[in-house]
Amino acid sequence: MLRATVVAALVGAASAFSVAPVAGPASLAKADASMRIRSAPRTSSRVAPKMSASDGFVPDMGRRQLMNALLLGSVSGPLLVLPAVLISYLVPAKAGGGGGGTVAKDALGNDVKIENWLKTHGPGDRSLVQGLKGDATYLIVNDDKALENFAVNAVCTHLGCVVPWNKAANKFCCPCHGSQYDKNGKVVRGPAPLSLALAKRGEQDGTVVLSSWTETDFRTGTAPWWKA
Ligand code: FES
Repeated sequence: MLRATVVAALVGAASAFSVAPVAGPASLAKADASMRIRSAPRTSSRVAPKMSASDGFVPDMGRRQLMNALLLGSVSGPLLVLPAVLISYLVPAKAGGGGGGTVAKDALGNDVKIENWLKTHGPGDRSLVQGLKGDATYLIVNDDKALENFAVNAVCTHLGCVVPWNKAANKFCCPCHGSQYDKNGKVVRGPAPLSLALAKRGEQDGTVVLSSWTETDFRTGTAPWWKA
């Protein structure tokens, strides 16, 4: 009996001083993952409060340079464009021909090319083109098969009808009230009070260009009655 008691006491003491069993590889991996999860930095679900000037926030150099560039661009853009707009406004636009003239247009709205015109318009021809200010204007082919250096405005000086050329009569005869003009547009019968207006016939790269006739009216020897 005494012996059994001593043995039981010895076994209890031995279990009290026993060492825990060493963990296997699987257990170590599990423990390592667990530690990594616990040691990973926490990402806060809360949004960091915005900083303001009152908070003493000062942007870094890169941001300041970017802001300066944006500010400079927004200010310098209009300053660069403004002079170009002013210049284009102040410089008068050309009327479409050299020397400020107007390019004559045919019935289809095409520029009148002298070479092509003379192929289809013979000596003595008087045909209409669109001239200064859009007025119907006669180009005149002379006996040398060349265009005269003047053109005749077809608007009657009486009440503004377009005066047709009458080849048989060798005159311009207005159908509205009977006024007549000679082959160069000089009035020969009323009620039209004045001769048909003249225009200068010029050339720019083979194209007919019309401009104001400001010299003495060679038909009457008087100053032009029409405005330049
Ligand atoms: S409009 Fe030509 S004569 Fe009257």
